[in-house]
Amino acid sequence: MKLFLAPIQGMTIAFYRNLYEEIFGGIDTYYAPFISTSHHKSASPILFKDLKKENNNENIEIIPQLLGNNPEDFKHYASIISDMGYKEINWNIGCPYATVTKKKKGSGILQYPDIVKEFLEEVLKDNSYDLSVKMRLGLNDIEEGIEIVKILNDYPIKNLIIHGRTGIQKYKGNVNIDSFETLSSLSIHDIIYNGDIFTFDGFEKIQKRFPSIDKFMIGRGALRDPFLPSRIKGIEFSNEEKLKKMKLFHDSVYNHYKNILSGDKHLCDKMKEFWTYTSVHLDPNGKFFKKIKKAHKCDAYMDVVNQIFDSSNEWID
Ligand SMILES: Cc1cc2nc3c(=O)[nH]c(=O)nc-3n(C[C@H](O)[C@H](O)[C@H](O)COP(=O)(O)O)c2cc1C
Repeated sequence: MKLFLAPIQGMTIAFYRNLYEEIFGGIDTYYAPFISTSHHKSASPILFKDLKKENNNENIEIIPQLLGNNPEDFKHYASIISDMGYKEINWNIGCPYATVTKKKKGSGILQYPDIVKEFLEEVLKDNSYDLSVKMRLGLNDIEEGIEIVKILNDYPIKNLIIHGRTGIQKYKGNVNIDSFETLSSLSIHDIIYNGDIFTFDGFEKIQKRFPSIDKFMIGRGALRDPFLPSRIKGIEFSNEEKLKKMKLFHDSVYNHYKNILSGDKHLCDKMKEFWTYTSVHLDPNGKFFKKIKKAHKCDAYMDVVNQIFDSSNEWID
């Protein structure tokens, strides 16, 4: 059984992935957040900085991801990535945001099977890397996803990750397990399950429902509870160890951003994003998170963080 960390734009950058591996482990492969493809002249080296092997990417398995619908642009970006030493590139056809979908990209492309076909026809002429795909059920409904899965069946796709929501759902409502089952059973490709694995029990339920699936991608659940992947792999930590590891994780993320962001406000805002996830198990009633949201100065912010990590505090599963 393999566990994959889902890409989360703004969070799971190289530094975070590496730190996650060092402190928590449990993840087999880390998917990097998407890079949007555009005209080849815009393919500035800065776009690929997060993937550079020497920038914290040497010791863990990373799959880079591209978002786009133009095969020529995609091939150009993919060739840069493959020259960096990556053997697999993931195509994002799941992003649900309107700014993306209205350009027929992300889950917006799921309405256009012909564009998907033309794209694959052209992109797969280049076989210097494997292509995997991350999709949703459809933009509007599963009928769209069914057409796309039938097309994907005609091509050598390495893994097909399915997040069981439609694009228009964004992150609302529940994952539609029946629709996930419909799409996954139609596909001839290796399926990676994705969506709403937040707890060990939740994971077990999914695993029981789909005994033939042995690859699972976890996003928000692994950011909220970084001990979840290792727990799934059978490794448990005491409350004391968990608090110690979380403090180390927090302090490392904080110091990383302190060095690259200018001013207290930017740093506090970035750390609010971090606590959106981390507060779930350290501060379940949100008492401290409320104070973090109000903090604009590092001193005030660190006061709250120190209270959270007070040894009397508990990690709540
Ligand atoms: C803030 C945010 C950013 C995301 N960025 C990406 C991304 O760059 N690429 C991608 O394929 N999915 C992205 N996702 C989707 C996740 O990878 C994942 O598919 C989704 O959160 C469902 O899985 P989960 O319920 O385990 O979190 C993002 C999700 C969130 C909430």
